[in-house]
Amino acid sequence: MKLISVVGARPNFVKIAPIIRAIRQSSPPIRHLLVHTGQHYDYEMSQVFFEDLELPEPDYHLGVGSGTHAEQTGRIMIEVERVLLQEKPDVVIVVGDVNSTLAAALAAVKVHVPIAHVEAGVRTYDMQVPEEVNRVLTDHVSSLLFAPTQTAVDNLVKEGITKGVCLTGDTMLDSYMAFSAVAEQRSGILSKLRLERKGYLLATVHRPRNTDDAAKLRDIVGSFASVRETVVFPVHPRTEKCLRQYALYDELKMARNMRVVEPVNYLDSIVLTRNAVKILTDSGGLQREAYFAGVPCITLDETTAWMETVDDGWNTLVSSNREKIVDAIKRFEPLGRQRDVFGDGKAAERIAGTLSNYV
Ligand code: UD1
Repeated sequence: MKLISVVGARPNFVKIAPIIRAIRQSSPPIRHLLVHTGQHYDYEMSQVFFEDLELPEPDYHLGVGSGTHAEQTGRIMIEVERVLLQEKPDVVIVVGDVNSTLAAALAAVKVHVPIAHVEAGVRTYDMQVPEEVNRVLTDHVSSLLFAPTQTAVDNLVKEGITKGVCLTGDTMLDSYMAFSAVAEQRSGILSKLRLERKGYLLATVHRPRNTDDAAKLRDIVGSFASVRETVVFPVHPRTEKCLRQYALYDELKMARNMRVVEPVNYLDSIVLTRNAVKILTDSGGLQREAYFAGVPCITLDETTAWMETVDDGWNTLVSSNREKIVDAIKRFEPLGRQRDVFGDGKAAERIAGTLSNYV
């Protein structure tokens, strides 16, 4: 049996790592190849995650890079198709909801290679967001649908997808559980940034909806800079470009309470998450990691694919509204206890087991 996993962007690396580990431990052995599309290519956005997560070197690196949605998706399709025709795998594994996910799925379905989608069934029902388009279309061409939560399974049923659906839990939780202790031992990020445990807020912003609108981005970073608390802000390359374009970057960097830093690696990100008082983010991954770590999350968006975290009282949706953000920083406190909605940290084992029985 031969499997190919296609990954391209930061969150993909976190989600695929435990699956590759589980596949490598399968008996009888499964042949597995890793394809990196090159959607993310900077050292801090890609290679450092391979190092932290102990991922194998990719067998193919497609070097696709950035571009418009059509350019990026088209280039990935062309290159992935070449690999599939050459390698003839039994199944292609795609992860999450980035452009690499949809492009690889479209290339595979057209050459009749069955697709396994990890993180199937996740929905916000907002087709203005590129990730939602990627999720819906990928699910509808997949043969195996690994759903991270019961909500995701229910969402698939609503769209008439019941065959091949498997509730696995969230592989991000697998990675979080596998690497939390290692991260606390190895990461020197708190001392490097002169931070006290539970003495700062962690903020990230990268969604085009927030970054590509100058007024919204000004409101968001203005709210960060206006509070008393220290705010650690690792800046995604897209966000840095926009901040500079809107002439906001220098002022923000100089603000008394701000620690504006480059994107952080996985281990540093875990440590920053675990030790923050609160997290401000528009990232779906960080919303879940905040929940895993028991840290209240303030989401800089109007919707979330992870409503369980909101229903449990650990996440609040504030959009890009400055007053709401500042108010949540001051007043938002979690209610009640967390549930085990994201599984038990063994999602990858279930995925590897299902894959090995598939063919
Ligand atoms: C992508 C995903 C998003 C995910 C995010 C994680 C899509 C549609 N979006 O968004 O779901 O949450 O990754 O980070 O797939 N850039 C660099 N260096 C890099 C990569 C990107 O400078 O290594 C810059 C380029 O200017 C590029 C821009 O960032 O144009 C956006 O990159 P892209 O991969 O298109 O989307 P992300 O915003 O990273």
